[in-house]
Amino acid sequence: MTETRPERELRLTRDTRQPLPPSRDGRPARGRSAAGSSREAGAWRGEPGLPRDARRAPSAADRRPPGRGVDADGYRRALAVHAAGVVVITAQSDGIPVGLTATSFSSVSLDPPLVSFYVDRSSTTWPSLRAADHFAVNVLAGDQAELATRFARKDIDRFAEPTRWRPGPLGAPLLQDVSAHLICLPHETVDVGDHILVVGLVAEARVHGTGRPLLYHQGRFGRFLPHP
Ligand SMILES: Cc1cc2nc3c(=O)[nH]c(=O)nc-3n(C[C@H](O)[C@H](O)[C@H](O)COP(=O)(O)O)c2cc1C
Repeated sequence: MTETRPERELRLTRDTRQPLPPSRDGRPARGRSAAGSSREAGAWRGEPGLPRDARRAPSAADRRPPGRGVDADGYRRALAVHAAGVVVITAQSDGIPVGLTATSFSSVSLDPPLVSFYVDRSSTTWPSLRAADHFAVNVLAGDQAELATRFARKDIDRFAEPTRWRPGPLGAPLLQDVSAHLICLPHETVDVGDHILVVGLVAEARVHGTGRPLLYHQGRFGRFLPHP
């Protein structure tokens, strides 16, 4: 069980000159006001009349610039409540099919037609994807949770039975029974943090079914339920 902790107060700042704080201990900042205000300075020195908690010495979390440096746990918990559609990115590299599950897929531009996804720098699939002259985006349907799990596993041949697929028009594997697929040409890659942003130019887009999509939320797969 994970401990329920108070949400950290976030104050967004436009000041990008301040360096990221060295510590990420994740302790919640309580009784905190805007950075540099006289009230905050007085509070941690032990200003009389303030609650006991406000008179304590500043923690590493208190010293963070407001709105900067959220801890990994807080980041994960906040992002986990954002439901996302699930795709499998596939390609063929040196005649070998490769692919991985991704929720970071997004539309980017209509003219030209661009889409994107982010791939972890540590992905062992990425070097093959990068070497391929095109890739396919397979948009998973609501009953394809097992396929999504399969393409996130490391210890198996993801394209072996029971995976059903066929080579696409340019060679990249197309998974059977997906809601849609897109064939993309490499357009741009950008290093972003610990991931790589991959932008693709859509050369072909085919919808195979208007069925409900596969979603990922709070670490679980689920299905979309439209409003009545
Ligand atoms: C629901 C779900 C969504 C994922 N989304 C991404 C993603 O957007 N980008 C990414 O790099 N990995 C993502 N992963 C992880 C990769 O699918 C998986 O870690 C990766 O394929 C590991 O194998 P590799 O080292 O062969 O790439 C996701 C995994 C799951 C289960």
